[in-house]
Amino acid sequence: MLGQDQASKLRRLVAQQKQARTARIIAVASGKGGVGKTALSVNLATSLAAKGRRVVLFDADLGLANAEVLLNVDPACTVLDVLDGRKTMRQVIQEAAGGVSLISGGSGVARLADLSEFERARLVDSLEELEGEADIIIVDCGAGISPTVLGFAGAADMTMIVTQPEPTSLTDAYALIKVMTQRYDDSWSPQLLVNCATSRKEAQEVYQRISRVSWRFLKISVQDAGYVLRDEAMVAAVKQRVPVVLHRPRSAAARCIEALARTVDKSLVPVERRVGFFRRVLGLFK
Ligand SMILES: Nc1ncnc2c1ncn2[C@@H]1O[C@H](COP(=O)(O)OP(=O)(O)OP(=O)(O)O)[C@@H](O)[C@H]1O
Ligand SMILES: [Mg+2]
Repeated sequence: MLGQDQASKLRRLVAQQKQARTARIIAVASGKGGVGKTALSVNLATSLAAKGRRVVLFDADLGLANAEVLLNVDPACTVLDVLDGRKTMRQVIQEAAGGVSLISGGSGVARLADLSEFERARLVDSLEELEGEADIIIVDCGAGISPTVLGFAGAADMTMIVTQPEPTSLTDAYALIKVMTQRYDDSWSPQLLVNCATSRKEAQEVYQRISRVSWRFLKISVQDAGYVLRDEAMVAAVKQRVPVVLHRPRSAAARCIEALARTVDKSLVPVERRVGFFRRVLGLFK
């Protein structure tokens, strides 16, 4: 039997651990490249930070500078420092304007594009270090179905698949859903976000098409994450290297992102993880 002191110590420890494990991980992925993952990740992160959430944006498009360019951050350290054992994940966080904590995926380092299976698993696992630091961890994945993307998407609490309305983008989004489903199980339920829509109606049609085929052929239920309108303000904000939600908060794109952030914020009720993160991550890369 535990003494009273020991029992209360244990209760305190368990409570602390629960508290430390409340960060929700959102992976932003796409089949086709250039559909707006980074622009959306950066803006979603900024918008959630403005609501008082502690947000970490993890640039998992390794070896290519993405999020740091849009946030105008010149990173002094990157995930490479973590992989090479020079720094911890916490130590490579850089504060960006708008209150977002950024982890750079490194730029122009060939080694990052060619990680071993173990290194990839370690990187995904190292997100766990950030759980106590953040309410939400947004992982901006590279395009396509590389093992790194599949690993992050599989480990996340929510996978947001970004597509544009045109057919190539739709086909590739479906391909990503298919590969993910084959790797994991049919309880996996991605969110679909239609970027660069010309209207709400068009976005809804795109969602219906993807969700219908995913259900029919894969028995996967795809959730509707909504849409972001095609908007010149987004292009202008990218050029200025300021998130559109800060640069042009009243623009159509910024309003759509605000709506998305509200939905995400509501849906991400903190829950205790069922299994250790590392255990979930191991096996994902096989
Ligand atoms: N809603 C939008 N309206 C207009 N332009 C947009 C919108 N969303 C993104 N863009 C433009 O599309 C371009 C590509 O966006 P972004 O770099 O975010 O794509 P990506 O999916 O991250 O690309 P990659 O696959 O290379 O990582 C950006 O330069 C941005 O200006
Ligand atoms: Mg990108």
